[in-house]
Amino acid sequence: MRLNRNCLFFILSFCYVKGVDKGNFKSCEQSSFCKRHRATRETPSAYIADLKSLSLHKERAFIDVINVEANIPLTLEIIALHNYAFRIKIQEKNGLRKRYQVENALVREPETAPIILLEKKDDHIVLGLDAVNRMVIQGNPFRLDLFNKDGHVITMNGRGMFKFEHYRTRKTLLGKAISKVAEVVGSSGSLTHRLASWIGNLLSSPEEIPMEHNPETDSQIEPLDAEEVQQTSEEPPAEVPVNNDAEETEPGMWEEDYKSHHDSKPYGPSSFGVDLSFPGSNHVYGIPEHADSLALRDTLNGDPYRLYNLDVFEYELWSPMALYGAIPFVMAKGKEGAVGVYWQNAAETWVDVRDVPGGGVVSSLMKLVSGGASEPGPHKEVHFISESGLMDVFFLLGPGPKDVLQQYTGLTGVTPLPQMFAIAYHQCRWNYNDQEDVQFVHENFDKEDMPLDVIWLDIEHTDNKKYFTWDPIKFSDSLGMMKNLSDKGRKLVTIVDPHIKRDSNYFIHKDCEANGFYIKDTNGKDFEGWCWPGSSSYPDFFNPAVREYWKEQYAFDKYHGTTKDVYIWNDMNEPSVFNGPEVTMHKDKLHHGGWEHRDVHNIYGMLVVDSTFQGLMARGENKLRPFILSRSFFAGSQRYGAIWTGDNGAEWGHLQVSIPMVLSLSIAGMAFTGGDVGGFFKNPETDLLIRWYQAGAYQPFFRAHAHEQTRRREPYLYDETTKDIIRQAIRQRYALLPYWYTLFYENEKTGIPPMRPLWLEYPKDSDTFALDDVYLLGDSLLVRPVTESKATSVKVYFPSDESAMTIWYDVETYETFTGRGYKSIEVDMYKIPVFQRGGSIIPKKLRPRRSSVLMQHDPYTLVVALDEEGKASGTLYIDDGESFDYREGKYVYGHLDYQRGKLSFRFLDAGRYSDASWVERIIVAGLRLKPHKIFAQIQGTKDHVELDFKYEAKMHILTIRKPKLPMNYEWHLQFY
Ligand code: NOJ
Repeated sequence: MRLNRNCLFFILSFCYVKGVDKGNFKSCEQSSFCKRHRATRETPSAYIADLKSLSLHKERAFIDVINVEANIPLTLEIIALHNYAFRIKIQEKNGLRKRYQVENALVREPETAPIILLEKKDDHIVLGLDAVNRMVIQGNPFRLDLFNKDGHVITMNGRGMFKFEHYRTRKTLLGKAISKVAEVVGSSGSLTHRLASWIGNLLSSPEEIPMEHNPETDSQIEPLDAEEVQQTSEEPPAEVPVNNDAEETEPGMWEEDYKSHHDSKPYGPSSFGVDLSFPGSNHVYGIPEHADSLALRDTLNGDPYRLYNLDVFEYELWSPMALYGAIPFVMAKGKEGAVGVYWQNAAETWVDVRDVPGGGVVSSLMKLVSGGASEPGPHKEVHFISESGLMDVFFLLGPGPKDVLQQYTGLTGVTPLPQMFAIAYHQCRWNYNDQEDVQFVHENFDKEDMPLDVIWLDIEHTDNKKYFTWDPIKFSDSLGMMKNLSDKGRKLVTIVDPHIKRDSNYFIHKDCEANGFYIKDTNGKDFEGWCWPGSSSYPDFFNPAVREYWKEQYAFDKYHGTTKDVYIWNDMNEPSVFNGPEVTMHKDKLHHGGWEHRDVHNIYGMLVVDSTFQGLMARGENKLRPFILSRSFFAGSQRYGAIWTGDNGAEWGHLQVSIPMVLSLSIAGMAFTGGDVGGFFKNPETDLLIRWYQAGAYQPFFRAHAHEQTRRREPYLYDETTKDIIRQAIRQRYALLPYWYTLFYENEKTGIPPMRPLWLEYPKDSDTFALDDVYLLGDSLLVRPVTESKATSVKVYFPSDESAMTIWYDVETYETFTGRGYKSIEVDMYKIPVFQRGGSIIPKKLRPRRSSVLMQHDPYTLVVALDEEGKASGTLYIDDGESFDYREGKYVYGHLDYQRGKLSFRFLDAGRYSDASWVERIIVAGLRLKPHKIFAQIQGTKDHVELDFKYEAKMHILTIRKPKLPMNYEWHLQFY
C-alpha cells in the first residue's frame, strides 16, 4: 500500500511540475466519432424531412427524417413548450436499441403548450407557439429555422452537417454472431453487452461480411417503448435512394483503442451531430467547463470545445480541453437580444464554434417563407457532436439574455438559497493533519481577527481513505473538535468521494458488493479501478437502490462523529479512475438498466451529489439547508449546491481565467461557484495570494485550498501588512453578506445568478460582449479585481445605459465615474476596484465578527448611491440564515427606494420575520443639497422621529447615524 501511494505521489508530482499532460487526453482526431462528424464540414450529409408524414397532435408533432444515403428513417418529434421554447427529439424510427434519454437534469417534465400549424406547403411547414415565435421545417434538404420577435434567430442544419449514426448490425462475422446471440437471448441490454464483449475477445480481426439491416429481426433486440414510438400519417414516405452504407468501413466504429485502453463498442456507432447557426449573433457563451474566455472562440484551426467530465491535473489555460463538468447549453447574443440552445445529452460531446463571415444560412426557400429571413451578416455557428443517447434539443427563444436564463433554469432548476455560512469564507487544505491542527487553525483566525466560517478536511482525515470514517488516531475525538467549532458558530466540511476501497472489512464495500451496487465490467463482475484508496469500485448511482443507500449513510447514527454542523464535499466524481482511459471510467462499463457508461458519463457526478443532497436533507429532517461542494457537474447540478473549478495553479493566468470560468458557469445556471483561492498547485508569491483573496472575496464561492505538497499558507502566517490586506479583503466579503444573500435569494426566485457578465444588465452595450476581466454582482456592483502582477493601475470598463449617463461610485472613496468606456484606476495592494451603480441601494453589515453566524443580529448599513436624477432603489432579503422556514413565509423581502427626499422600505410580499435586525447607519452618496432635517416614521407608529446626520458638502455624502429602523416593519424617512 505504501508503495502504491508513493507511486501515486510520483505521478502527481510529475504533473505538479509540468502542468497538464495533453497526451493523456484525446483530441478530436483521436476520437473517431468526433472525426467522422467534423468531416461533414467538407462533405455535408444528406437528409430530407418527409413533410407528408407530419402527424400533428395538440402539443407536439412528428415528422419522418430520412438519410438519403442509408435510407434509414428517423423520427423528429417537435414539442411546444410553455415560456417560448421548442423541444425536439430525434431517434431511429425502428431502432435496434433504445437510446438513453437523460432523466435527472430537468427539474420536472416541462410544461407543454399548444402547437399551432401556421403554414403547410409542399416544401415547408411552419409550426408556432404563436404567430411570432415559430419554427419552419424545410423538407429537402432537412433544416429547421426558428424565429422570435427579432426575426430569424436560429437555424439547425443550415450547413447540412446533420449526421445521425443509426444503431445497426455489424457487417462482419463478429457482428453477425452478436446479433444472432442477441436474437436468441432477447432484449437484456447487459447480457447482450457481455456476450458481445466475450465474442469480441475471442475474435480479433473479423472478416468483413456484408449483412443487410433487418429491422424486423433487429427490433426484437431492444424495442422502443410504446410511447416512444412515433406516430406517422397514412401517407407513404417520399422516395429515397437506396443505402450504400459507405461509412460502415470507417475505423473506430465498432471498437476503438486509446493508449492501452480498448473500447469494445458492442453496439457500434451511435453518434449524431448537427450545425446550429445564430443569424444576428456575433457571440456565443456557455458550454462550461473550460478554462477559456467567456465568449467562445472560433475552433476551426484547433480542437472543438470538449464536454467530457475528466479529472485533469493543473489544466491548460485558454483551452477548449474538457474539464471536470459539462453543461451542454449555449447562449447566443445578438445586438440586443439573445437565444439559447440546451443540448440535453450526457455522452461525450464536442462543440465546434465558427465565426461565419456572412450569408450561408438562409436558403432561397427561407426568403420566400412568410416573415422569412434576409441574408445574415457575420454571425456565429456551433456544431454539436455527441457519441450516443437521444438527440434531445431545447431551443430557447429569449428574446433577451435574462429571458433565456429564466427559460433554461425553468427547465433545469435553480440553486436553492444557501445557508449564510456557505457564502462566507472557507479555509481548506489537503490536509489539516489532525484535530489539534483544526483547533490551531481556527484559533489563529480568531487571534488575528480574521473572519472564518468553515474548516475543511480532505481525504487524509479518513481511516485509510474509507469515506464516512475517521482516522482513529488523528481524529479520535471528532465530536469534541466539532463542539469547539460550533461554539464559535463555525462549520466543518468533510470529503466523501464516490470510489470505495475494496477492503473486506469496510462496511460500505461489504454492503455494495453484497447488494450488487457497483458499476459492472463487461463480463458482469464488479468493475475495479484505481483511486486514492488503491483498488476501488464505484457505486452505480443510476440504481435507485444505490442512491437510497448512499443517502442513508449520512444519518448521524451511521456517519459516526458528525453533527449537524458537518457538511459534505463530493470530489473525484467525474468519476476519476487513475488507471482508466483519460483518468476516467471505460465507456463500455455497465450501469443499472443496461446502459453503457458511454451513454451516461457526464451525468454520473451529478447523481452522486443528488444522493448526498437527499442524505443531508434526511439527516436534518428536512429542516436545515444542505451544503455540498462537487467537482463534477451537469445541467441541473445547480440544484444541489456549489461547484469549484478544480485543480488550478498558483499562477496569475489561473487567477485571470477564474473570472470567465465563473461567469461561464453562472450563465449556464451554476450560480454558486468559485476557484481555489491561492491556486491549488504550487506556492503563490505573496502578492498573488493577496490579489487572489481580493478576487475570491467577490466570487460566489469563496474558499482557499492548497495541494498537500505546498507550503502552509493560512493568511495568519504572513507578515503584518499582508495579514492586514487579506483581513480587509475577507471583511469586505462579510460586510457584503446581506447583499450576497439577497442575490442568492433572488437567484432562487428568478434563475438570474449573483455574478453576471456586464451584457446581462447592459444587453445593448456591444463593448461588453467580450470582456473577461470585469463583471457585476447583481445589477449594482461592478467588480474589476486586480489580476496582474505588480499592477499600479487597471483599466476598468464602465458600462452604461442608453443615455450613457450611468454614474459609478468607488465603494471606498465615493469618487464618481460617469459615461461608458474605459477609465484608468490607480491601485495599491489594498485596493479592490469595486464600484456601486448610481441608482442602487446596497445593504451591508459593517461590524467585524469572527463568523457570519455571529453577525446574524448585527444592524445594517444602507448605502444609497443616487443616479443622475437623484433616485435609487434596491432590495433586502432576511431570514434565519439556515433553515427552510423561509419556505413557510418566515422571511422579510423588502424594497428600498429613494426619490424626491423620501427613503422608504416596503415589503415586497407576504413574508414576515420578527427576528430581523435594524438599521444603524444610512449613507447617501450623490446628494447635491444638504437637508435641514430628516424625520423617520415607522409603520404602526404615529411618531415622526427626528434623526441625527452629517453632510460632507465636498463629496455630497450624507450619513444618518443610528436611525434605529427595524427591518421587520415598513418605514420611511422624509428629508426636508
Ligand atoms: C482532487 C481535488 O481536486 C483536490 O481539491 C483535493 O484536494 C484532492 N483531490 C484530494 O482529495
